[in-house]
Amino acid sequence: MKQLIAFCLLALVVSTSAIPAPSFAADEASLTVLITGANRGLGLEFARQYREAGWHVIGTARKPDAATDLRELGVTVLQLDVTDGDSVARLAGNLEDQPIDMLINNAGILPAQDTLPETSIETVARILDVNTLGPLRVTQALLPNLAEGDRKTIVNITSGLGSITRNQSGRFYGYRESKAALNMSSRSMAAELRGDGFIVVAMDPGWVQTDMGGANATLTPEQSISGMRSVIDSLTVEDTGTYRRYDGASVPW
Ligand SMILES: NC(=O)c1ccc[n+]([C@@H]2O[C@H](COP(=O)([O-])OP(=O)(O)OC[C@H]3O[C@@H](n4cnc5c(N)ncnc54)[C@H](OP(=O)(O)O)[C@@H]3O)[C@@H](O)[C@H]2O)c1
Repeated sequence: MKQLIAFCLLALVVSTSAIPAPSFAADEASLTVLITGANRGLGLEFARQYREAGWHVIGTARKPDAATDLRELGVTVLQLDVTDGDSVARLAGNLEDQPIDMLINNAGILPAQDTLPETSIETVARILDVNTLGPLRVTQALLPNLAEGDRKTIVNITSGLGSITRNQSGRFYGYRESKAALNMSSRSMAAELRGDGFIVVAMDPGWVQTDMGGANATLTPEQSISGMRSVIDSLTVEDTGTYRRYDGASVPW
């Protein structure tokens, strides 16, 4: 009965498109990836590429009804606001008993914050809520699903701006802190879950042409995501707890 209710709830929020399913690669056809913030930008490109590779893709959006581009990929679309504990709990409830091979904590925000006098502490708190606490909430809630998956992989989308070593120019208050703290979460998750066969990495996508990155960014979403997918594909348990760029290079903490 519980499963039936979960299925009905899922059916209410799930949508698929009329696009025919791509031909699945044999070894990837049974894998499931959940991507947060998948309605635009890097999340949408992750969804497109994993779908093309034959994965079952669960893409989350704050407003699923407005996630037209995501729906058109033929992925499962579920509602999620990573700052809302009830929304996270609903997502986990809808996915009860569904193994998830990989979680990509991608949702993030970058409100402009310049010098220290210009910085709004309320905005810093909001950034931390989305970029740092969001991935913690979602990972914690979906841990049972990930434990049932074959890949047991958690990818936390961080930024080069989260590197303390590389911070020579300052600014971006809130965003830098949020990604440095996310990096620490990644290390902690990696250490705690290593014994259970999990791989946890912090990945810097590079500077990418999205709403966040802007038109002058050096990479297209296709380039960044192709690079990250190659790195993710090659990960072994030896790589857990690392901080990597889209091209595989290590980033200093
Ligand atoms: N683009 C770059 O150059 C760059 C560089 C380094 C790191 N990153 C990181 O890469 C990730 C994706 O960035 P992007 O460039 O694709 O950004 P984007 O185009 O601005 O997209 C951000 C995504 O996050 C979602 N989101 C925002 N707040 C959310 C919340 N409270 N709950 C759930 N979803 C939420 C957005 O949903 P809505 O549409 O509902 O707002 C959207 O889907 C972020 O973590 C970002 O920090 C990007």
